Amino acid sequence: MQLVLATRNKDKIREIKHLLEDLPITILIFSDFLDFPEIDETGETLEENAILKAKGIATFTGFAALADDSGLEVDALGGAPGVYSSRFAGPGCTYDDNNRKLLQDLQGIPEDRRAAHFRTVIAIAWNAGEIETVEGRVDGIIKTQKIGQSGFGYDPVFYYPPAKKTFAEMSLAEKNSLSHRGKALMKARDLLITHFNLMKDSGKQDTSI
Ligand code: IMP
Repeated sequence: MQLVLATRNKDKIREIKHLLEDLPITILIFSDFLDFPEIDETGETLEENAILKAKGIATFTGFAALADDSGLEVDALGGAPGVYSSRFAGPGCTYDDNNRKLLQDLQGIPEDRRAAHFRTVIAIAWNAGEIETVEGRVDGIIKTQKIGQSGFGYDPVFYYPPAKKTFAEMSLAEKNSLSHRGKALMKARDLLITHFNLMKDSGKQDTSI
């Protein structure tokens, strides 16, 4: 049982490995392969991009592959920045540039119309043709200014009402326990358990008939 992670992002690799560490699955990463390909994110939705990456890496390696794509979707902006979250303020922009543009675009909009959510789609390509997807989502509100120092991306402007703080005011463990990515990863874990016929609690292969 082998699974390739279709990403070069070391933080994502660490988080996914941690969540799957009790399962008897060998996790392979980009550095285990020669010429691991860069898959262009040319899709128009998070789903399309996650599938493109998982399928591309499964085809290249011949192993099952897992890929994710995430974005911030703001109701008052018709779901933008969405799939363009990392390049919202233009090519080569920084997280700060994106947050500045987001706050500008929402200028004058009152708090009750600043609803937004983060969404992660994870695709697992069992092979080049057989693909399943799962989704994780967390709802919040876009603040009128940045608050907090932790995290990355839109974390300082994303306020999570149940915790009464922004994602940038949370520890990594707290954020992972309720985030879009954390939720999607738990669902992906369930897909792997079912597909590879693993027992949930022991981490052993289920040999029952
Ligand atoms: P990716 O698909 O995980 O690389 O995410 C794409 C972009 O969405 C990132 O560059 C961030 O701008 C934004 N994003 C995704 N997840 C988060 C998060 O947990 N906090 C803040 N921003 C995020």
